[in-house]
Amino acid sequence: MQIREATINDIENIKKIYLQAFESSEAQVVSDVAVNLLKEDPPVKVISLVAIEGDEVVGHISFSPVFFKSSNEHFGYILAPLAVSPKFQKNKVGSSLVKYGLDVISNIGSFIVFVYGDPKYYSRFGFKVDLAKEFIPQYALQFPEGWLALKLNSAVLPEGGKIVCVDSLDDPNLW
Ligand SMILES: CC(C)(COP(=O)(O)OP(=O)(O)OC[C@H]1O[C@@H](n2cnc3c(N)ncnc32)[C@H](O)[C@@H]1OP(=O)(O)O)[C@@H](O)C(=O)NCCC(=O)NCCS
Repeated sequence: MQIREATINDIENIKKIYLQAFESSEAQVVSDVAVNLLKEDPPVKVISLVAIEGDEVVGHISFSPVFFKSSNEHFGYILAPLAVSPKFQKNKVGSSLVKYGLDVISNIGSFIVFVYGDPKYYSRFGFKVDLAKEFIPQYALQFPEGWLALKLNSAVLPEGGKIVCVDSLDDPNLW
């Protein structure tokens, strides 16, 4: 398996992965987020990665920048969304995409990565609910136990505060 940056030429394959991997009630919304993030051009680059097996795109992940609401300062990333084609699941494709992305972000020198997802899955990478608590997203969370964060390096973390995401994630239905 190889991992590379996604391009707009991958859009149709990325859509297919999300439509197959997620339940029909949320598949279209999540697929739209993945595609919109790839097209969006925020002040700090979105990291959008695909996993390739043979000549097939079998997984996708995005990490987009987060900013403090008060100062607009960029200080971390949020992982969203992530999916692996059903027939390639449980082969470490998802884990490889997460770890690859975290390495890229760590090398950039960013402090922290957030995710709003299943704690049972993301805890295996070290994401923790306690760390995320001080960082308040722009919308009330339907599942606060799924708001998690991972500290990436030895830098001193900012104290916390209200945070904002890029436009593609600025939708109350996603939170
Ligand atoms: C979640 C997902 C990305 C994992 O991808 P994957 O390539 O199968 O993951 P990996 O092979 O790296 O890891 C599989 C492990 O995660 C576990 N796992 C998968 N989904 C999980 C979940 N929602 N909660 C807890 N564990 C989960 C598997 O049981 C497996 O455990 P094991 O290593 O102990 O056998 C994939 O199942 C998927 O696309 N699911 C549908 C979309 C989705 O839910 N995305 C958001 C994730 S919150």
